[in-house]
Amino acid sequence: MTAKKRVGVLISGRGSNLQALIDAAKAQEYPAELALVISNVPGVQGLARAEAAGIQTRAIKHQDFPSRETFEAALDAALNEAGVELLCNAGFMRLLTGSFVSRWLNRHLNIHPSLLPAFKGLDTHGRVLRSGTQITGCTVHFVRAAMDDGPIVAQAAVPVLPGDTEDALADRVLAAEHRLYPHALRLVASGQVAVDGERASGMPAGMGDSALFSPPLPGNF
Ligand code: GAR
Repeated sequence: MTAKKRVGVLISGRGSNLQALIDAAKAQEYPAELALVISNVPGVQGLARAEAAGIQTRAIKHQDFPSRETFEAALDAALNEAGVELLCNAGFMRLLTGSFVSRWLNRHLNIHPSLLPAFKGLDTHGRVLRSGTQITGCTVHFVRAAMDDGPIVAQAAVPVLPGDTEDALADRVLAAEHRLYPHALRLVASGQVAVDGERASGMPAGMGDSALFSPPLPGNF
């Protein structure tokens, strides 16, 4: 097997998607290893999850820096020091400048709890419920300077059910996120995804365990 890609994860909170990546990366044949987890908020659950898994962590508080650029220079320095090759946002709730985004272009993923390009931004599930949308989901995409924008790597569709509350819908989508992110990172880390302009391609079709996932998930996810 070729060398595992060294992955950095940016978080701001609970870190349940981080946990899904930690769990997936335990498999010997998984093509990525988590080299560093950085939170812009100290003391969050995600940092504790990473520490429990023996992964190097850093808390880099954006408020400690006079500008976005200096905050991002500190992120870059930590990521480079840890030899990070691929970056994953997992509930990282800071907008990054175009300059940071271009340094990590097509090496940087984000997960968002909607079927992008619908419902970018905050209060996703509340807006889905108020709109009457019947199918929502989650998306893993390459990061661009605009919020929740960029070439789509993988999506999972999730039904909105009668009587759903925001919490119930968020839980259902989150369960799909936990399957989707490890799958998308596997595709990217193993070099199966090519980016051509604003489109990602080359994702293999396969026998899926759920027709709601695009591309279909292999049996082990
Ligand atoms: C997840 O639902 C993720 O999709 C969302 O924040 C949550 C983080 O949960 N991200 C965004 O809304 C990005 N625009 P987690 O910390 O338990 O992974």
